[in-house]
Amino acid sequence: MEKDVLTGLSQMQKSLPSKYFYDQRGDALFQAIMDMPEYYLTRSEYEIVNQQYTAIAEALNPKGRLDVMELGAGDGTKTNVLLSNWLALGMDISYTPVDISANVLKQLQQTFKKNLPDLSVSPMQGDYFDVLEKTKGNANQRLILFMGSNIGNFRGPNQNAFIDAISENMNPGDGLLVGFDMVKDPRTILAAYNDKQGITKAFNMNILERCNRELNADFALDEFTHYPIYDPHTQEARSYLISNRTQSVHFPKSDVHIALNVGETIHTETSRKYTENDIKRLYKRANLNVNGWFYDCKHYFVDCLGVK
Ligand code: AVJ
Repeated sequence: MEKDVLTGLSQMQKSLPSKYFYDQRGDALFQAIMDMPEYYLTRSEYEIVNQQYTAIAEALNPKGRLDVMELGAGDGTKTNVLLSNWLALGMDISYTPVDISANVLKQLQQTFKKNLPDLSVSPMQGDYFDVLEKTKGNANQRLILFMGSNIGNFRGPNQNAFIDAISENMNPGDGLLVGFDMVKDPRTILAAYNDKQGITKAFNMNILERCNRELNADFALDEFTHYPIYDPHTQEARSYLISNRTQSVHFPKSDVHIALNVGETIHTETSRKYTENDIKRLYKRANLNVNGWFYDCKHYFVDCLGVK
């Protein structure tokens, strides 16, 4: 973490990798974000899986047993809805959550054991691609889930590379269901990252707090402004932390000092928004056929099914 943090803070445009939001406190704050009135993303996708599970299954039309593999399942609430309804329809499914965090997988397994005791759950810990590659030879048809608009966090070409790499590890007939947050009134989007209660601010600040807690850095936490923007031209919501004064931050382990000017920005996160054409392009270049668009009633969000 220290290496990544110092690399990010040594650039002309300072940045910190958004993956460091998610320690125990960050996970709890994100949980609170999902419950906020402004954060429409989770509710929209919940509505989609809750109301359209039959249509999603029909678009994939599995022939025998289907292994549902999920990349980064979060707390599993939406997946639970999808899978419990599919079991009730009599579908033959197993579930493989994939995550780099053993802790997340353990919690997930407990949740599923409690809520869906009949579902066969076999978590796999590791890098998404290692796991996909390792399981490519399995006889079962697979549906890969990548929900929650996590795709939006990739910068530019990385999202293409990500979908391409998943597709390379899919067999003919396998499905990929990705959750995308759509472009919409920019004020609606901005509000989702700038809530009144300040939960997103706390979430954003947690990355600096972690540096102080875990790396013994000395960011003057009271001297930062949480500053999210939405740029409808690039379709990116971006979050910044802006230093309110000139300060020098010390990282004792590496004995490095980072100078921050008054008004200087640290970029902490990009959350990209999509048009249908963006998504079509993304799937097309990865050689996936689009078999279904599943929208919430406001068309804020889409789960798009690609089939190899
Ligand atoms: C979990 C990456 C989808 O980008 O909307 C929420 C994270 N950041 N509020 C997003 C987040 C600020 C979220 N993702």
